[in-house]
Amino acid sequence: VEKWFMKHKLLDGKALSNELMSSLSDTVKLRVSLGKSAPCLAIIMVGNVEASRVYVKNKIVACKNSGVHNVLYDLPEQTSTKELLNLIKELNFNESISGIIVQLPLPKWIDTDLVIKAISAYKDVDGFHPYNLGRLIQRIPLLRPCTPYGIIQLLKAYKINLKGKNSVIVGASNIVGRPMAIELLNNGSTVTVCHRFTQNLKELVKQAELLVVAVGKPQFVKGSWLKKDAIVIDVGINRLENGSIVGDVDFSEAVEIAQYITPVPGGVGPMTIAALLQNTLLAQSLLEETL
Ligand SMILES: NC(=O)c1ccc[n+]([C@@H]2O[C@H](COP(=O)([O-])OP(=O)(O)OC[C@H]3O[C@@H](n4cnc5c(N)ncnc54)[C@H](OP(=O)(O)O)[C@@H]3O)[C@@H](O)[C@H]2O)c1
Repeated sequence: VEKWFMKHKLLDGKALSNELMSSLSDTVKLRVSLGKSAPCLAIIMVGNVEASRVYVKNKIVACKNSGVHNVLYDLPEQTSTKELLNLIKELNFNESISGIIVQLPLPKWIDTDLVIKAISAYKDVDGFHPYNLGRLIQRIPLLRPCTPYGIIQLLKAYKINLKGKNSVIVGASNIVGRPMAIELLNNGSTVTVCHRFTQNLKELVKQAELLVVAVGKPQFVKGSWLKKDAIVIDVGINRLENGSIVGDVDFSEAVEIAQYITPVPGGVGPMTIAALLQNTLLAQSLLEETL
């Protein structure tokens, strides 16, 4: 009984991601059979951050599984901003490249904002460029930040009604918290965004019918903080000293109280990758419009 219960409480991002990737793979095959190009993702990685290597490896595997080509630029730690910008410029003009991502974080002497802005907005498949964030805010999204876009698709797949939902986001980063707030707002939620300076965090979390946590602190949100039957989206990926991966929510406590919860791993992570590939396909069609 417990197993059945667990299974039905989980928002299974892995399963949905597999479905989305299989339909993406069909679309790519159809395109190729019609004489069009398969999309191609350029992945730029600078230096030797171990977690980044794992993320990039997962993205490459996902490309292979869905028939999306990829080119990896594995640059040394001492790469300069100028060298990186030159590579981006070259890829922006390269007609065989549909999308470009720069794996973050970059070495501290590289200006990340400058790098993000240098990527053509139409090839910005991470959705971090000010143009794409601006479009999201104005409710005319184009390339949407992958993690929030993946989460919205997961919620919709489980037919979770977002209209009027009291939604709380813990974390306000440019890549997760902020665009998540806009996505939820665009879907009719009433949104509260919490961050380092929020004073009554636990009280706000207690009111959340939908809670998204992206703080980067292992098991930060406790089960006792949650509203009964809350829907809990755990974005965190934290590696503990014993090697295990945990989220930003204490899963074993939260699963007892939540109506639905995303597991870590197997929840938000795979949906982020599926969204990246969806964006790459969209970027390829944007590229074809300009050729
Ligand atoms: N599953 C995926 O695909 C995926 C994708 C991206 C990230 N992640 C993971 O998600 C987590 C968050 O990533 P991120 O890039 O958003 O992290 P980040 O840039 O470090 O942002 C963390 C956010 O949490 C806020 N925060 C920190 N301590 C807090 C506290 N005690 N109370 C309330 N808010 C607090 C920070 O507030 P301030 O803004 O005030 O500093 C910041 O807005 C990480 O574990 C990361 O590995 C997962």
